[in-house]
Amino acid sequence: MLKGRHLIEPGNLTVEELDELFDLANRIIECPQSYGEVCRGKVLATLFFEPSTRTRLSFEAAMLRLGGSTLGFAEPGASSTSKGESLADTIRTVSCYADVIAMRNPKEGAALLASQFSEVPVINAGDGGHHHPTQTLTDLLTIRSIKGKTGGLTIGLCGDLKFGRTVHSLAKAMSRYSRNRFVLISPPELEIPDYIINRVFKPAGVPFTQVRRLEEAIGDLDILYMTRVQKERFFNEQDYVRLKDSYILDAEKMKMARQDLCVLHPLPRVNEIATEVDQDPRAAYFRQVTYGMYIRMALIASLLGTSKVETIKEPPCSVPIPSFLGKKGGKKK
Ligand code: NCD
Repeated sequence: MLKGRHLIEPGNLTVEELDELFDLANRIIECPQSYGEVCRGKVLATLFFEPSTRTRLSFEAAMLRLGGSTLGFAEPGASSTSKGESLADTIRTVSCYADVIAMRNPKEGAALLASQFSEVPVINAGDGGHHHPTQTLTDLLTIRSIKGKTGGLTIGLCGDLKFGRTVHSLAKAMSRYSRNRFVLISPPELEIPDYIINRVFKPAGVPFTQVRRLEEAIGDLDILYMTRVQKERFFNEQDYVRLKDSYILDAEKMKMARQDLCVLHPLPRVNEIATEVDQDPRAAYFRQVTYGMYIRMALIASLLGTSKVETIKEPPCSVPIPSFLGKKGGKKK
């Protein structure tokens, strides 16, 4: 039961709880109309102290499609933080208005702190370079749906592995499934933090290799997870400019990849994937965006304890479903 819980990092959910969420997301994909009222009367607050397009809008779209309402702010300047209010007080206040809070904050650990002061579930929508668990739910649902499994995969993580919070959360989550291996593709300055190697990969016995060139690795991969260089987390502009175009995935490099490669990217993209790759059927990053909304629907309904519609006779589904989602959702691993 997820009702009333917080989601701060991927480890807060067991593998079984993740599977239940993916199954619920698939039921929603099959017939969204059945879930169109399950959050009627409930309010989601989206507190974004850092810019976002997809994450905030997909949370809001998810809540609206569940029949609930949303309120919040999209930049710290629009909140009392700009007057010096503490995060604890902001959260205590918002939890008087809302039934669930999705928060993004530039400080690592901010979501955990918020959960300690909130009367309602807090969902971490990104805390600095630390974690981004709902992007990971999105990534896992996409992988499970496209590959039909979440284990036995060779996963290339490419780009800014140091500051990219989506990478940290995905590495942690995928290390829990059997027989996954990682290829870490980054410049020396942007290598994955030691704690992921020493406290995630090594204890779980997850094999990994580190390479500098995408060309060296691309032919071996089942999943290629591209990331942008995280400009906002650099201390100086010169380093960013030097590193920002370290990797560019283009049609030439895609020729070296397997036919069943799945290319993911949490987005936004800057230069790291040439737009010519978008036409390639192996490019799955816009399908990933769609899965992101459905998994957030499943998550919100579960945290609010309003996901049970199985007993209600399902009305015929008239909501258009994107063709790639098909009739049936993803398969289990
Ligand atoms: C990511 C994030 O904010 O960490 N974006 C997202 O939520 N989809 C990735 C990024 O900003 O590079």
